[in-house]
Amino acid sequence: MQWEQVLAPRMGRMKASEIRELLKLLDQPDIISFAGGIPDPALFPVAAFQSALTSALAPGRADTALQYSVSEGYLPLRQWLADHMTGLGIPCGTDNILITSGSQQALDYLGKLMIGTNDTVLVNWPTYMGALGAFNAYEPVYDRLDPRENRGAAEFRAKAAEAGGTVKFAYLSVDFANPTGETIPRADRERVLDLATDLGAAVIEDAAYQALRFDGDPVPPILALEIARKGSIEECRTIYCGSFSKTLAPGLRVGWVCAANPVIGRLVLMKQAADLHSSTLNQMAIAEVAANSFDAHVAGLRDVYRARRDHMLAALTREMPAGVEWTKPEGGMFVWITLPDGMDGADLLARSLETERVAFVPGRAFFADGSGGNTIRLSFSRADEAAIDEGIKRLGRLIAAG
Ligand SMILES: Cc1ncc(COP(=O)(O)O)c(C=O)c1O
Repeated sequence: MQWEQVLAPRMGRMKASEIRELLKLLDQPDIISFAGGIPDPALFPVAAFQSALTSALAPGRADTALQYSVSEGYLPLRQWLADHMTGLGIPCGTDNILITSGSQQALDYLGKLMIGTNDTVLVNWPTYMGALGAFNAYEPVYDRLDPRENRGAAEFRAKAAEAGGTVKFAYLSVDFANPTGETIPRADRERVLDLATDLGAAVIEDAAYQALRFDGDPVPPILALEIARKGSIEECRTIYCGSFSKTLAPGLRVGWVCAANPVIGRLVLMKQAADLHSSTLNQMAIAEVAANSFDAHVAGLRDVYRARRDHMLAALTREMPAGVEWTKPEGGMFVWITLPDGMDGADLLARSLETERVAFVPGRAFFADGSGGNTIRLSFSRADEAAIDEGIKRLGRLIAAG
């Protein structure tokens, strides 16, 4: 079969993610991995889920747990989320919440909702590669969003027209971003809102790591800043994507979108067409664990991840040769490294796996234009302190050798 003859043009844009391919190599026991940005499974609230799943399957509740359900999501979970979002400065009701199968599904639906072929999407350089992967299927053109760069709406609009479309939205990973670990300051969030308003474009606020702040003051979500300007979520162009993957359990695939009704209504139509609804049993389990222990559980995660971040930053200071720079995240899972000029992250990974047995993610895949060759992403979420010390020592040695 000549599959190329029957494939849609969009498949040309869909490539295997470097991270997914890499994760396959990491089962080898002697590798120290700073690669996947995933939670430490030792920290999963297993007992709480055992009890929540047993209760969801008890007589009287099992009929709901195992039956088809509504596309919007399990109402008690949406109620918990409406309260949670209100606590973040985003007053809203259950009608403003859609449960998705992870926030990754929300990114796919939002791409499907807004991007036509050759429309422009504004992203940071670098940005979450999974967002690029989700949007690529809808064949956008990317333009670089740097809130501190003084490009006005007219310039973005002209460039988008040249590419054959219009600017549809800006996408930003806002807190402890994947991949840089950096948080977008309040003034820059306000600037993004100003720009999107001038462009008539939407803003997708990806807050996957929002709850994992170790220190410093929380920065209000873009959606909260917009509600402060406009008075109500119904007037807002910002679409907030949240996730339980980094706090409770990624395997249950539960995320959410919080936005104005016209957006939620259309996403519900999309979900009906795509997968009817997210797993009811999983939503019931998440709802119970969140209601009973979200804050306490997340406080425990923060303590463990904070210590690992501190350990990694101290090891980098000790071990890295001159010419290497790195970010100092206030939360999340990532430190972003800029290598000495001319050094390539992908080459370094190949050498590292061969000689030092340390894994990380080369930075290029996070850049929509394929630049960023001299960058790498390290995750501190899964390695214990001894592995961090040893892994960073080996990496420093390899980089110093040039
Ligand atoms: C910034 C960001 N957004 C979204 C996701 C998707 O997460 P999930 O679909 O598990 O909610 C991830 C996962 O790594 C991420 O890093």
